[in-house]
Amino acid sequence: LASVEVDVASLQPGMSLTVKWRGKPVFIRNRTPEEVKAAQEVKLEELKDPLARNANLASDAQATDLDRSAGKGKENWLVMVGVCTHLGCIPLGQQGEYNGWFCPCHGSVYDTSGRIRKGPAPENMAVPVFSFISDTKIRIG
Ligand code: FES
Repeated sequence: LASVEVDVASLQPGMSLTVKWRGKPVFIRNRTPEEVKAAQEVKLEELKDPLARNANLASDAQATDLDRSAGKGKENWLVMVGVCTHLGCIPLGQQGEYNGWFCPCHGSVYDTSGRIRKGPAPENMAVPVFSFISDTKIRIG
C-alpha cells in the first residue's frame, strides 16, 4: 500500500498508536503539553542532528520541534517512522532520559520530538510524508 489512512479521534493527549506503512512501523503520538514544551525548549545547538528529517519540508529544514511536528496548530501531533536510525530496531516509547523513545538494542536515546540525543544513532527518526485529511484523520504516504 502506497498510503494508509488512520483515524486518530480516540487518541487523547499522552496516547500513541503504531501503524504499519510500507512494512515499517509509524508512531503517531498525541503529545502532552509538557512533552511539547520540553521539546520546544531544547536549543538547536544541543542537538546531535540539527535537521528536521521531515519529508514534508525542505531537506535542510532545521530540527525545531515545530518542524518535527504536524505544524502550526497541530504541534501536539508527532508522526514518525518508528525505526532507530542506528541499525533499525524499534525504539520503546516514553522511556529514556528525555522521556521520549529509547532503543533497547544499543541504547540510543530520543527526545519527545523523536530527535536523537544520546547513543550511537546518527539521525533523528524520520517524519514520513503525511497530512491531516480531516480533523481526526491522517493519511501517511
Ligand atoms: Fe537502535 Fe542500535 S539499533 S541503538
